[in-house]
Order: sequence, then C-alpha cells, then structure tokens
Amino acid sequence: MNGRIRQPTSQPTQTGTAMSSAAELDARDPLASVRGAFSIPEGVIYLDGNSLGALPSSVVARIDRVIGTEWGERLIRSWNETDWYTLPLSVGDRIAPLLGAGAGEVVVGESTTVSLFRVVAAALGLRPGRSVIVTERENFPTDLYILEGLKSLRPEIEIRHAADGEDPATLLDGAALLLLTHVDYKTGRIRDMAKLSAAAHAAGALAIWDLSHSAGVLELDLPGSGADFAVGCGYKYLNGGPGAPSYTWVAPAHIATVNQPLSGWMGHSAPFAFSPDYVPAPGLRRFITGTPQVLSLAALDEAMKLWEGVSLRDVRAKSTAQTRRFIERVEEGCAGLGLTLVSPRDDAHRGGHVSFAHEHGYAIMQALIARGVIGDFRAPDILRFGFSPLYLSFAEIDRAVDVLAEILRTRSWDAPEFSTRRVVT
Ligand SMILES: Cc1ncc(COP(=O)(O)O)c(C=O)c1O
Repeated sequence: MNGRIRQPTSQPTQTGTAMSSAAELDARDPLASVRGAFSIPEGVIYLDGNSLGALPSSVVARIDRVIGTEWGERLIRSWNETDWYTLPLSVGDRIAPLLGAGAGEVVVGESTTVSLFRVVAAALGLRPGRSVIVTERENFPTDLYILEGLKSLRPEIEIRHAADGEDPATLLDGAALLLLTHVDYKTGRIRDMAKLSAAAHAAGALAIWDLSHSAGVLELDLPGSGADFAVGCGYKYLNGGPGAPSYTWVAPAHIATVNQPLSGWMGHSAPFAFSPDYVPAPGLRRFITGTPQVLSLAALDEAMKLWEGVSLRDVRAKSTAQTRRFIERVEEGCAGLGLTLVSPRDDAHRGGHVSFAHEHGYAIMQALIARGVIGDFRAPDILRFGFSPLYLSFAEIDRAVDVLAEILRTRSWDAPEFSTRRVVT
C-alpha cells in the first residue's frame, strides 16, 4: 500500500457490551479533526455521504483558481503550464492507496457507467471464444444496463443473473467474466471479493468489481483479492462533488495487453501526432478516451488530498462502530414502529451504510430531511443512511436516531407534503 496512508492511531470503537456515550466516542475519535476540513451546513446531520459526499472547503478555492486563473487568464496555455493533461492519472494515483493499489494502476474519467462499459468490453477481449457474463439481478441497475448495451453490439453475449440469495459462483461454468458490486447499494452487504474472484479464475473467467460503495469506507486490497478490474464513483465517499469522474483500476498484469473500445485520441500513444491509425498508449493512459474533465478532476484532486495521513483502518473501525451504534439505537429507540433492518447485522459483512425497510419509507425520509437529517430512499421501501467517517460524529448519530424515533412515534411523516414523490432522490 502507498505510503500516504497512515497506520491507525487509536481505536474509536467500543468493543464491550455497554454502550459508551457519544461524547466519549467522539473524544477518542482519531478522525475527529478531519471534520473541520468540510463545509457542512449548520443544523444538518448528513447521512448521505455514500450518495453524494459533503463539500471539502478547499475545493472552493481550487475551483476558483482553475476557473479564474488557469482558464480565465492563462487560457489554452494552461494545458502546458498546469496539471490539466496529467490529472486523469495523477488523481488516479491519489485514489490508488484507497484501493490497495499502486501508482500508475488507476485512471480517472467519465461516469462509472462509462468506465464499466470500457472495462467490461476490454475484459471480454482478454477471453476470446467466451461470451458469458455472470452478474446478479440485484446489482446496481446501471451495471446491468451496460451489459445489455454490450449485448446489443455483440448478440453472442449471454448474461447470467444470479437471483437474490443465489451464489454467483455457481453460474460461472464457461464464463468469460464475473461482474459484481462489492458493497450492495441497497443493503450494504459486502461480497467476499477474494473468494468470488478465485471462483471466477478457477472457471477461467476474469473478475470485475464495482467499488462505488466501498472505496473510502473499507480497507481494500484489490491485487491481494484477485480482482482483475475495478471501477467506482468519485462523488460518494471520495467527496469529488456532483458528477465527479469515476476511477478505473486495471490489474498490472493486464495493462499492457488489454484494449478498450472507446479508443479516443487521448488514449493514443501519440495524441498530438494526429495519426489516422489508433495505437494505444503503452500504459494505463490507453483507458483515457477524450479530453479530461478538468473542472471535475480538479475538484476530485483537491478532495483526495484530505486522505493524506488518514489511516484506512481508523476509517473502517469508525465506520463499523457508527453503523453498529445506529442499528442498536434505532432498534432500541424505534422498537415496534415498523422498521425492519435489511443490512447485515454482522459487522464483518456490512459496509458503510445501513438500511431499514418501512412501508412508509418515502414519507418518513422526507420528514427526516425536513428536520435536517438527510439520508435517502430507495424503492420500494428502503430508508438508507450512509455514514461517512471523515465528517460524521457519534453525537450526530444519536441525534438522528432521536429525530427518527420522534417522527415515527408522532406519525409526523403522515402529511401531504411528505408523500409527493420527486423525480430525483
Ligand atoms: C454501485 C453503483 N454503481 C454505479 C453507479 C453509477 O455511477 P455513475 O452515475 O457515475 O455512472 C452507482 C450510482 O449510485 C452505484 O451506486
């Protein structure tokens, strides 16, 4: 792992059976000081950092500089004078330690959906003669839609969906690829990456992982887990801002041999030679398609600086302690009020968010948001709460549970303004 990630400082968790006070836990939280680097509105308890991370204050000045000076004053000269051209790989190098990866193994650009297309198509090329892709029905829909899109280009592709509860490893016979999301977007359940990647390899397939809900909240070791490719969102726990570009990790063994079909000029070995023939760049640059999204990359670059000196072990320990506390307190404070835990109870199998089902989940979430407790709702009935260890305190968790309990007890969610569905969130 890259040296920028520090070893853990102390444990923020309570391991005994008696619940410590939030104040005690906050006082010994080794990440508590990172909160000051974020701009979080007064009165908001933000439990949606797994969907859109909060704003790191330094991003504002950085974007101001990129727009005002680099673009506004230096204009096109900035391509040569600044980091614009190298951002896709330099931001990738900042993300790599969060994945357990090394420098030059991660590239950043476009949405996760587009990166998935590139990666799945590229990986298929490494398994000539095979065309079966194994995934699961409950995967994040965009992952499934991309497979359908690829199938429309290559009708020989067969997509095998593991049903809810079915082990995808049992469907791998003759497969080219296994495509799974590591932490389930609805339930927070963690897939066993090492075991499933090994199963894929045993069947002669490659393993692709969607890490959108993993990076920045779990300790990851992609090479050690046998992954071949991985992608994930820059706007969730990485705090890169709305629509932040996604990251793509390619196992070093594949970089020099794999070709991706969105073969644009910025992935060419000599983009400014303007040759009519495509020759992929020798390294990971071949996964770049067109001109880098400089504004979004600069925001993500700045946000990633907050991870310098942060121990991922501390992050995971705090995350586990916070999700466990939330579950325990909700089950105690909201008992008999219609909530059912849908996330794993076992810490080892639970990622950084917690979901409860409730038949009036949508209205309850709107009532929570109106009280400043921001989580999100996932159809049909899931209240989802994300716990971003970089900026969330234990005291906020306790307050959020108190508000939830009050809303449920008083049925204040049962009001017309909370039942009208919006298009987004
Ligand atoms: C697991 C997972 N994969 C992919 C995506 C889609 O990412 P993007 O909008 O960057 O394409 C999301 C978005 O929430 C997600 O949760």
